[in-house]
Amino acid sequence: MRNSPCRLVVLISGAGTNLQALLDASRDPAYGAVVTGVVADRADPDAVAGLGRAEAVGVATHVVEPRHFPDRGAWDVALGDAVAAHDPDLVVSAGFMRLLGPTFLDRFAVVNTHPALLPSFPGAHAVRDALAYGVRVSGCTVHLVDGGVDTGPIVAQASVPVWPDDDERSLHERIKVVERRLLVDVVGQMARDGWSVTDRKVSIP
Ligand code: GRF
Repeated sequence: MRNSPCRLVVLISGAGTNLQALLDASRDPAYGAVVTGVVADRADPDAVAGLGRAEAVGVATHVVEPRHFPDRGAWDVALGDAVAAHDPDLVVSAGFMRLLGPTFLDRFAVVNTHPALLPSFPGAHAVRDALAYGVRVSGCTVHLVDGGVDTGPIVAQASVPVWPDDDERSLHERIKVVERRLLVDVVGQMARDGWSVTDRKVSIP
C-alpha cells in the first residue's frame, strides 16, 4: 500500500462517464488515487462535455488534436508532454479513440477500458461488431496498453448479457454501467497495491 495517492491522468475523446466515475471514486482518500489531469484529442461538443466534468472539480484539462501536428509522431510527443505535465503514476485511457504510439508508451504505464470481451471484437466498433456477430454475452475488458489494437495483457473482465432486442446504443449503455464499476475497482487496486506482469498474466498483490 502506497503512502501518497497514485496520480492518474485520464485520456478521453467523448462523454467522459468513465472519467466521472474515477473523479467520484477519488473523492474518498481511501481510494488511493487522484486525477491530476485530463487530456482529450478533440474539442468537439462530445469531448467538451467530458472535459467539463474535470473542469467542474478543478482538474486541469488539455486538448491535443492530431490535426495541429505534422505527423503522428509529433502528435504522440505533444500528447506525452501534456500528460507528463501532471506527473502521472498511471495513465487511464477511458474512451480515448486513438492508438497511442511507441514514444508515448515508453514514457507511461497505460491502462485502457474496452467495451467487449477481448480478444473478441477489438477496435473502434466493438459493440456493433459483437451484435453483428450474434453473441449472446458480451462485456468489457480493462487491459494494459501495448503497441497493438486492444492487444495488451488483460487485467479484468466483466460480462453483460445481450438481449434479443438490443441495438448498439442499448447494449453499449448496459455495458458502460458495468464498465465504469470495473474500471474504478481495477484502477483503485492497481493504484493502492501496484501490479506485475508475467507471460501476459497481470497480478495485483
Ligand atoms: C466506453 O464504453 C469505452 O470503452 C469506449 O467508449 C466508451 C466511452 O464512454 N471506448 P465515456 O466517454 O467514458 O462515457
